[in-house]
Amino acid sequence: MKQENSLRSSHWFARSGKDGFIYRAWLKKQGIPAYELEGKPIIGICNTWSELTPCNSHFRELAEAVKRGILEAGGYPVEFPVMSLGETLIKPTAMLYRNLVSMDVEESIRANPLDGVVLLCGCDKTTPALVMGACSVNIPGIVVSGGAMLTGRHRGKSIGTSDIWRFSEDVRAGRMTNEELAMAEAGMCRSDGHCAVMGTASTMACMVEALGLSLPQNAAIPAPDAARKVLAQLSGVEIVKMVKENRRLSDILTRQAFENAIRVNAAIGGSTNFVIHLLAIAGRIGVELDLQDIDTFSANIPLIANLQPSGSYFMEDLYYAGGLPAVMNVLLSHLHKNCITANGKTIGANYAHAVSYNKDVISSLEEPFNALSGIVVLKGNICEQGAVIKPSAASPHLMQHTGKAVVFEDIDDYKKRIDDPALDVDETSIIVLKNAGPVGYPGMPEVGNLGLPAKLLAKGITDMVRISDGRMSGTGFGTVVLHVSPEAATGGTLAVIQDGDIITLDVHNRSLQVAITAAEIARRKKAWKPIHTSATRGYVQLYQQHVEQAHLGADLDFLKGSSGSEVTRDSH
Ligand code: FES
Ligand code: MG
Repeated sequence: MKQENSLRSSHWFARSGKDGFIYRAWLKKQGIPAYELEGKPIIGICNTWSELTPCNSHFRELAEAVKRGILEAGGYPVEFPVMSLGETLIKPTAMLYRNLVSMDVEESIRANPLDGVVLLCGCDKTTPALVMGACSVNIPGIVVSGGAMLTGRHRGKSIGTSDIWRFSEDVRAGRMTNEELAMAEAGMCRSDGHCAVMGTASTMACMVEALGLSLPQNAAIPAPDAARKVLAQLSGVEIVKMVKENRRLSDILTRQAFENAIRVNAAIGGSTNFVIHLLAIAGRIGVELDLQDIDTFSANIPLIANLQPSGSYFMEDLYYAGGLPAVMNVLLSHLHKNCITANGKTIGANYAHAVSYNKDVISSLEEPFNALSGIVVLKGNICEQGAVIKPSAASPHLMQHTGKAVVFEDIDDYKKRIDDPALDVDETSIIVLKNAGPVGYPGMPEVGNLGLPAKLLAKGITDMVRISDGRMSGTGFGTVVLHVSPEAATGGTLAVIQDGDIITLDVHNRSLQVAITAAEIARRKKAWKPIHTSATRGYVQLYQQHVEQAHLGADLDFLKGSSGSEVTRDSH
């Protein structure tokens, strides 16, 4: 066990004279007795509560449960807010601010007298942002996710976020009225919690559990379930132990832990956004990981969780079927079992005895829901640095497809012309969207699962190949190629694709090619001029000047790595 005086917080509270006086006296105005600051681990609870982040609006209660655990274990809890990112409200995209939040988290942790930190994560970007920031300080840390909301209900059917994309196409095709749409809206979000499908928030909750950053079962306990508060309290107990045993994020986040997370993500049909966030986290903790690794370690892992958007069920069902532990148990032979997790036990020890209670939801390696899973990394002259596609959410008949490009220069161009009856497009065409990347939009929004042209929807067409340098919601589906790198706005080949160019997508051979010569690409690039706007001040300017491309995780270049936890100078 660590000695009390080796606590990081002792550099504040064990001081004598003026400095110690100032550090202690103002904290005491909250009614804190002196003994709380005399050698107890001080645990920060990094809270992304906000009424503007509906998925995280129950986090004050969750924080209370965490506090009970910290106090019980002999630590002292201090809750602090950081900027919160609500996926549904923030324009132009919450992704623009992921890196900003990570800076807020990093600096808040380092600058304050914290020995350990509990990260309260929920809505999509709140998880990677908090983990990235904490990694750049690298003190003991544990994640408590907020949990998914209850499954939505509409006209006797279960619904979740993935249905929004269906409803939207149904309305455009005249199959659903606006009145029905309003009814569905009222039944979609019935409780606290984040999206109820295997979208990005659930994917991130699974990612942290697979990495070992949370207690087992963190991924899938529904937000309103009493067990979620129990897990939060137990996590409070655990973080105090982590501090005493000096188990830091870098002890958990090894290269092998990242390989485990990639395999688990494949098995659950996790979001394509996993790629970008995992690469960014690896960059902060200093683990070598590249885009190709995502493909390599996903290969040969079948889809064993039957969850929307790749399958049929919802996060609630996953929990009732045994939760992520049951999935990880099925996968155990593919995982590095010796990886240490937050509770000090290995992946092998934590998950050896978990069982699936419902084979329709969590199956076996022998009888998977889909032999195709995970995220395939494509290479070719359109995407020299890569692009991604999620085969389990795509159409089998389009996995190998050649078609004529129908090109939109940016999202405004797309919105203006997509439903034009005169648009030269049929179901074999390939829709190309430019300027939806990190620099171009800016912020790389979730627009990649572009709605189909109205005239093709009317014909009953439900999927087409779509290519962009943007992302799609983890709840989205379709044969969509995303994250094309380099992006159009930085002059990648995507920028010079023209209407009528012949494009071939070959998922099996991991290839995405446009049938024009290198000389023609070079000629077009010479004549190319960027059309996106560049911010002239503020955070967005900083972002556009420093954001890295998607294949590197879209972090800001100067945020990679860690500055450690030490601060040598005092404030007065
Ligand atoms: Fe927050 Fe989907 S909107 S998780
Ligand atoms: Mg999203």
